[in-house]
Amino acid sequence: MTTVQLDALLNEVPTPSLILDFADIANNYQQFETSFPGGLIYYAMKANAHADIVQLVVNRGGGLEIASLAELEKSFNAGADGSRIICSNPIKNPTFLRRMHEAGVYAVVVDSIYEVDKVAQYMPGARVYVRLAVDNKGSVLPLDGKFGVDAALALELCDRARELGLNPIGLSFHVGSQCLSPNNWVKAIAACGDVWREAALRGHDFYFLDIGGGYPAGSKHDASIPTIAAIGSAVMEAVANHIPYTPDLMLVLEPGRGLSGDAGWLVTTVEGKAARGSGEWLYLDAGVFNGLMETFEGFPPVVKLLAGDAAERPMQRYTIAGPSCDSCDVVARNLEMPETHIGERIVFIDVGAYTNEYAVAFNGFPIPQVVALNRHVIDEIPAVYEEVLYA
Ligand SMILES: Cc1ncc(COP(=O)(O)O)c(C=O)c1O
Repeated sequence: MTTVQLDALLNEVPTPSLILDFADIANNYQQFETSFPGGLIYYAMKANAHADIVQLVVNRGGGLEIASLAELEKSFNAGADGSRIICSNPIKNPTFLRRMHEAGVYAVVVDSIYEVDKVAQYMPGARVYVRLAVDNKGSVLPLDGKFGVDAALALELCDRARELGLNPIGLSFHVGSQCLSPNNWVKAIAACGDVWREAALRGHDFYFLDIGGGYPAGSKHDASIPTIAAIGSAVMEAVANHIPYTPDLMLVLEPGRGLSGDAGWLVTTVEGKAARGSGEWLYLDAGVFNGLMETFEGFPPVVKLLAGDAAERPMQRYTIAGPSCDSCDVVARNLEMPETHIGERIVFIDVGAYTNEYAVAFNGFPIPQVVALNRHVIDEIPAVYEEVLYA
């Protein structure tokens, strides 16, 4: 699609609409495959569980990382086999655990003694991996604090898991979402190497290293954001340097945003304006509740005014708000952009992840409708993947 065609589409779709370009998702998938040789992609479907994205991943032979019973059902709807599913949510309820056990889910994470006991009860004999707490500085949305354990507790959990008949196979971590520092992965892999060696001394036979998500969107238009290729080369070197030689090493990636983030644009309309003591306000038909929740978490939006003469207009500072009655429904404050009028369109860029997945129709304002581009690539199986699928 040319830029002119894309601009025409952005001007024509009803708003709010989330445009998803499946060709971008397919390209990102391929980028991961080539940048992490031998690595296995388990798409973290929490980023965007749209059935067509899940299908694209399954059709290419990829795996899925799930957090809930509903995500397990969505995996089955796409034809995924339990053996290609893992669960990295550290807290799982008995119904979910039982269902994963019946389905033959490959392995599940643990990061507390209580969870080890629970998994042993409801998934007897399961493979488990332990989530290490790692440095999240350098990530736009840090995820540390809530999950993960230190090295000493990781080893205790492995011992306890073995005592209870589980099979501790390795380690996982998450460097934080939209991680801008490849060195976070390097440090985390080094920390895994230390635990790995100590675990071997205790008789554990690790082969599973899950380097989580965190791969950022936006490197195509912002050179300060590391590319998948740059992260891949830092990771592959770190694995070679820090993880003891393991012939059957299973290197797992859980990209969420990295796969779907830069494949999405959210098209909104300016429905109202106001001059308040705090300055000029723009009110859109999408906000924190119906699509832009991440801005509330501190994710800076990248916006573009859809107007042919945008470049010639005077610049103005705006507070941008959503349509609901709630005062927390503010998407950006003091954002400099060309002077904007009621009825014009504002596009949010790189929002293919964590938009509709987070959205609710609070106050009756609708969740953006999805407009799919290049759907034909979903069912296309590039020659290189045929080997994986039909081997
Ligand atoms: C366990 C786990 N894996 C993967 C992801 C995906 O992260 P991202 O979208 O930053 O790649 C998340 C996100 O919260 C997560 O919690």
